[in-house]
Amino acid sequence: MNSFGRKLILTTFGESHGVAIGGVLDGFPAGVGIDEEFLQAELDRRKPGQSKFATARREGDKIEVLSGVFEGVSTGTPIGFVIYNENQKSKDYDNIKELFRPGHADYTYFKKYGIRDHRGGGRSSARETAVRVAGGAFAQILLNEFGVQVESGVSGVGLIKAEKFDFEAAKGSEIFALDKENLMMDEILKAKQAHDSVGASVVTRILNAPSGLGEGLYDKLDARLAAAMMGINGVKAVEIGEGVKASAMRGSENNDCMNEAGLISNHAGGILGGMSSGAEILITTHFKPTPSIFLAQQTQDIHGKEVICELRGRHDPCIGIRGSVVATAMARLVIADFMLLNLSANLGNLKKIYR
Ligand SMILES: Cc1cc2nc3c(=O)[nH]c(=O)nc-3n(C[C@H](O)[C@H](O)[C@H](O)COP(=O)(O)O)c2cc1C
Repeated sequence: MNSFGRKLILTTFGESHGVAIGGVLDGFPAGVGIDEEFLQAELDRRKPGQSKFATARREGDKIEVLSGVFEGVSTGTPIGFVIYNENQKSKDYDNIKELFRPGHADYTYFKKYGIRDHRGGGRSSARETAVRVAGGAFAQILLNEFGVQVESGVSGVGLIKAEKFDFEAAKGSEIFALDKENLMMDEILKAKQAHDSVGASVVTRILNAPSGLGEGLYDKLDARLAAAMMGINGVKAVEIGEGVKASAMRGSENNDCMNEAGLISNHAGGILGGMSSGAEILITTHFKPTPSIFLAQQTQDIHGKEVICELRGRHDPCIGIRGSVVATAMARLVIADFMLLNLSANLGNLKKIYR
């Protein structure tokens, strides 16, 4: 289960401290101009080692496209790409070889496979999300052809919550904050100084998505988006539009009424009956605090003995910050996939292709 998507399929490979990570993107249409500078710029936004708000692991995260692109244009064949790991410090993980870090995936990987690459968390490390960001950047290049835009920003860090969603501010912010950047930064630094970590929430918006993306019952657009976001490391909840707030509202407050110009409000977050309405799609993704913290914690080793977990190494104090770039990538992949799937939704679409 290392592939994502139905028509546009991203398969990823690699571990945190292996030689490289990479992916194969299959189903990408031929004839699309590929701007490799854009691919790299997107990877640079997620890349670690750039500030005191992220892990100090310094990776170049340079993407090398191996196939599927000829003279700057996609050929319709699988797009293969690789990102070499450069800054592994595997010794930092020697002391956790036989113990399970609280809150991390060590215990479940060991229970399932009976073996695990403990160095940097192996495959469960968010190092793999660089590949998703690259895949999402390819998807965005396709979406650009149709004017669809996807962007994210951090809407909360700990108890600090954004009061407005300023996506322009997020673009220029070191922590992609939509609002209250300084307060959010303080919250991260306070957690870090206490050798601890802090949770965060991220808002992703999709602009200009065509209406009718998604299936009515078992393959709803909201269900796919939620699954895509829940599939990101450390994500614990996803909301669409008003999300959990809707369960405390009256129908008269939550309904989106219409006039001759269309929807008057957008409590639904751009999705009704599992399909996009044409309004802005709004997703809120909640990230837990980073599990690897630098406080002594009680745990168990692989022999079942109770031990104290004391970590070394480099970790993000707040995973939602870089996670916001990954959320954008996943939304891009879902929308591009549904646009390709929708080609067979009705006779009109088929006639456009075959007549
Ligand atoms: C961008 C990003 C960076 C992350 N960095 C770290 C990290 O430095 N240390 C850590 O322990 N977990 C980090 N995580 C979270 C773990 O990968 C995740 O908690 C772990 O795989 C267990 O999975 P789960 O939390 O989804 O159950 C990061 C997650 C993301 C999305």
